[in-house]
This record gives sequence, C-alpha cells and structure tokens, in this order.
Amino acid sequence: TITPVLLCGGSGTRLWPLSRKSYPKQFVPLVGDTTLFQASAQRLSGDGFGAPLVLTNSDFRFIVTEQLAEIGMDPGAILIEPEGRNTAPAVLAAALWLEKSDPNGLMLVAPSDHVVPDAPAFRAAVQAGAKAALEGELVTFGIKPTHGETGYGYLELAEDPESFDAQPLRLNRFVEKPDAARADDMVKAGNFLWNAGIFLFSVRAIIDAFMAHAPNLMTPVQTSIDEGKPDLGFLRLDPQAWGEAEDISIDYAVMERADNLSVVPFSAGWSDLGGWDAVWRESNRDDRGVATSGPATALDCDDTLLRSEDGGLEVVGIGLKNIITVAMPDAVLVADASRAQDVKNAVAALKSKK
Ligand code: GDD
Ligand code: MG
Repeated sequence: TITPVLLCGGSGTRLWPLSRKSYPKQFVPLVGDTTLFQASAQRLSGDGFGAPLVLTNSDFRFIVTEQLAEIGMDPGAILIEPEGRNTAPAVLAAALWLEKSDPNGLMLVAPSDHVVPDAPAFRAAVQAGAKAALEGELVTFGIKPTHGETGYGYLELAEDPESFDAQPLRLNRFVEKPDAARADDMVKAGNFLWNAGIFLFSVRAIIDAFMAHAPNLMTPVQTSIDEGKPDLGFLRLDPQAWGEAEDISIDYAVMERADNLSVVPFSAGWSDLGGWDAVWRESNRDDRGVATSGPATALDCDDTLLRSEDGGLEVVGIGLKNIITVAMPDAVLVADASRAQDVKNAVAALKSKK
C-alpha cells in the first residue's frame, strides 16, 4: 500500500484575510464544500492507500483530527513539528517514521493546499508511477506549463512529452524556481513540465537520497523522532534536535541533486491556489467572469471575485473590472486582480505595524 504523507505547514499569507496564521488556507473551504485539506485526504484514500501520515505544527493538531473525523477518516499518525523547517526535514521525518513499520513501502508526499478536481484521474497517475517508485525512482508529477511562472519547479524531459497519457518518463533534471528569463525559455523549449509539488517514492529510496544529497539532515531528524514525546495520539518531535535541522525544501535538498528522477505527466487539472487570482479561476464564474460567495452581489461587473466570508458583511460591487474583494468580519481586502500576488506584502506590512 501507499502511505499518503500530507504536509500541512504553510501559513498561506497570499490568501489573507481568509487565510490567517491561526487558520491557514488548507483548513478553510475555498472552492467547494470541503476544505482543501479534507479534499487532499479524500483524494488519496481507498484502494491501494493506507491511513495518512500528517505533518503539521502544534497549533493545527486538533483542526487536523477534527477535519479528518468530519470526513470519516482516521489519521495513521500525526507528527508535530516544533517549528517549520520547510519540506526537506518534514519529508525525511515522515520517511524515518515509516521506516520502522514499512521500510519497503511507498509514500506519496502531497501538499494539503492544492486543487485537483479529478481525483480518480489523479489516483490513476499515482498507480502509473508506482512501478517506477518500487524500482527506486523518485517520481514527480508534471503539469503542462502555461506561462513562465517563477514560483514553481521545472522538470526537464529527455524529449517533448508528445503524449500526455500518464506514463512515467525519465527526467534529465529538476530546476527549482528559476528566474523569469529562464522560466520563459523553459516554457518555450517545450520539453519542460511544471513540478506539481507531489512526490512518490519508496521509503528506502528517499532515505538513501537524503543520505546521498543532504546527509546533514539525518542526525537531527532521526534524533527528533527518537527523543520525540507521544502526546494524546500525536508525536511531538524533539524541539532541540529539530531546531538543528537545516531549513530547506525537498526541491533544493534532494530533487535538484538526484539523478534517479521520473515524472508522470498529469493533464486532468491542477492548481496550487497560490493567490486570489487562482481562486477566482477555480471558482464557478458567470459568463462575465464574475464569481461571488457568501452575501455578495455583483452589479454590472466583469472578471471580478467578490467574497464575503464567515457570515460576514453584505458586500456589493458595481461596475467593477478585474477586482478582488474578500470581506471578513474584521478585515476587508480590495485589490486589483493583477496585484493578487502582492497580498503577502500587505500581510508583512500589517505585521510590522503591530
Ligand atoms: N509540515 C510542513 N512543514 N509542511 C510544510 C512546511 C513545513 O515546514 N513548509 C511548507 N510546507 C507545506 C506547505 O504548506 C505546502 O503544502 C507544501 O509543503 C509545499 O510548500 P510551499 O512552500 O507551498 O512550496 P512552493 O509552492 O514554494 O513550491 C513547491 O510546490 C510547487 C507547486 O505548488 C515546490 O515543490 C515547487 O517545485 C512546485 O512547483
Ligand atoms: Mg505552494
């Protein structure tokens, strides 16, 4: 079986004011009725999947158990990180934890804040990658790029991915977060896919990869598990050892350095909801491109997102074009849609004012 490893660490500041430090975006219903976290857990359940292993921090541990209970799922285990050290230590902790019970098993590492509408197609892609993973490959999932996005990793294929039918292909290399010029070049070149940020590998293969490419993480992460404290069904990783682990993502620590990489192309729809513009694109829109939710009314608007959250304010927009408005009981965002990525700067500015 494949153990889903759900990463629930980020704070999602680009989706302020809905996403807060105390209640980040993966735990709120952004698109549809379930939260992104619940949808991620459900997507990776059923035939072939074991109970999920969740990595999160202390603040979210009860939200995690509550939200899994709401959808009738039991967590396999919840590891609590004393502080966020990025995805490399988190993934290694998951692998070393699973090594005790299932050293030859497969693990599927997934963020809990993505939208993948076609769950059966995604499960089929995972199954397609399983054989390569059992052979020791580190399997990524590749999305056909539409523009030179600098916030993603890029996967270089040996040749053009002419057929997009979910068969694993060997990768030449992995390029994390290129600058804009290189990103544009890679999109033009045609033999690059975006890294979806989802990984499939055997417990053994990823531990070997960490030993080869990021050996400095081994001791602190192993110690944080060995010295960890069980607490109400969670395992609290030891804070002192954890604090010694380098703060680095798995993309830089392992993927850019490894040469046993494969990719399963995935074309059935994927979005990482990295900002309100992406939420607008994933929402139900009318024929003028207007999406509303909650007590929100748009009169004669185009390409606009109007949301009122949490039984919040009555919101009315008139004659708006390319505007994002998100109202909470205690905060309102009004932004030009082209500036959606700057919301994180607003959050930083608010923080420094306090
Ligand atoms: N548990 C835990 N602990 N989770 C974490 C931590 C941590 O310290 N840091 C990040 N995460 C979670 C985030 O919440 C998110 O779900 C996931 O790990 C990925 O982290 P991001 O910080 O969102 O990464 P990114 O978006 O910059 O880049 C990654 O994803 C892109 C696709 O969305 C990379 O894998 C890119 O290559 C990829 O294209
Ligand atoms: Mg992300």
